[in-house]
Amino acid sequence: MPHLIAPSLLSANFLNLASDIEMVNNSFADWFHVDVMDGHFVPNISFGFSIISQIKSIARKPLDVHLMIANPDNYVDAFKKAGADNLTVHYETCTHLHRTVQSIKEAGMKAGVVINPHNPVELLTDIVADVDLVLIMSVNPGFGGQKFIQSSLNRISRLKDLLIQKNSKALIEIDGGVDTTNAKTLVEAGVDVLVAGSAVFGAQNPTATIRKLKELSN
Ligand code: DX5
Ligand code: ZN
Repeated sequence: MPHLIAPSLLSANFLNLASDIEMVNNSFADWFHVDVMDGHFVPNISFGFSIISQIKSIARKPLDVHLMIANPDNYVDAFKKAGADNLTVHYETCTHLHRTVQSIKEAGMKAGVVINPHNPVELLTDIVADVDLVLIMSVNPGFGGQKFIQSSLNRISRLKDLLIQKNSKALIEIDGGVDTTNAKTLVEAGVDVLVAGSAVFGAQNPTATIRKLKELSN
């Protein structure tokens, strides 16, 4: 499967969100990456249901929703209603992760699990067979525009081995500090989905940058 591109709307221009969404609709991007932050689990607050529903009303590609919130279990149905296609929860926020993953699937969404840079990917050994995607944070979650943490590369190969060992079909997604200079290395290491925020929306030509991320050119 060719790798997928998921531009993160966190770095979009909120005064012109509709035109940024239209740009993604008409680009080589595959998904919209939608970051939800609550000011508890991460030291930043982004946006919630009403914005997501409005994004959904004009998006022509799936919404890949990354929850950086405490108690995500309380909001699974609400995110489905708002238009999430993939719902990804942090390992660090779920005491009963297996139950959360099942409830996401029962609500009719693809289920993802995401893990912070300090936690070994092996913590996911007994859940990878149950999820549709695993997201590796390559920065500490909370803000766009941070520097890629190099040890994430090793985490990708370890996760890849784990998925093979557990016969899991989960996609490997990477989020944080992704740009046209490291995209190729990441895909070669086993990444299926590249999330990119500032690299896309901070570029002079976002459409061309998405294309470069898809074609792995520099
Ligand atoms: C960070 C978010 C990311 C963020 C990535 O907590 O999860 O999705 O938008 O931004 P860049 O690509 O600028 O690192
Ligand atoms: Zn994200």
